[in-house]
Amino acid sequence: MPKVTFVVDGEARILEVDLASLPYSHHGLRGSLLDIAKALDIPLEHACGGSCACTTCHVIVREGAQNLSDMQDDEADRLDTAWDVTPHSRLGCQAVVRGDVVCEIPMYTRNYVQEGGAIQLGKSTRPQPAAAAGGEVR
Ligand code: FES
Repeated sequence: MPKVTFVVDGEARILEVDLASLPYSHHGLRGSLLDIAKALDIPLEHACGGSCACTTCHVIVREGAQNLSDMQDDEADRLDTAWDVTPHSRLGCQAVVRGDVVCEIPMYTRNYVQEGGAIQLGKSTRPQPAAAAGGEVR
């Protein structure tokens, strides 16, 4: 199972993800960082619903970039409009996970006032669906 690590405010949230049994969240491409984040209650923004039409799902890949799907022209064009793009930036809704990856959710893409009360990483008021969703949260 791929190990997906999201880093928010310097805090790492490591998820063991069984991609085969993870339910599709219908946010971004199936198996994308956004899809996984949604299914496992990681607060990754997605104003356009994962259709590559905004940049709110911007993440910075710290390790395992080779374990993500190749960037397509649509993603590259959209990413060009993101704030503070780095050579390691990806759009979470378009980057499909194929192996271990560590990504950081930049501070400026976070919205701490979300529906459902996902205020801070690990402090969501929503039930943690990880076990039911085929993932394990540590
Ligand atoms: S959620 Fe809008 S581009 Fe990814």
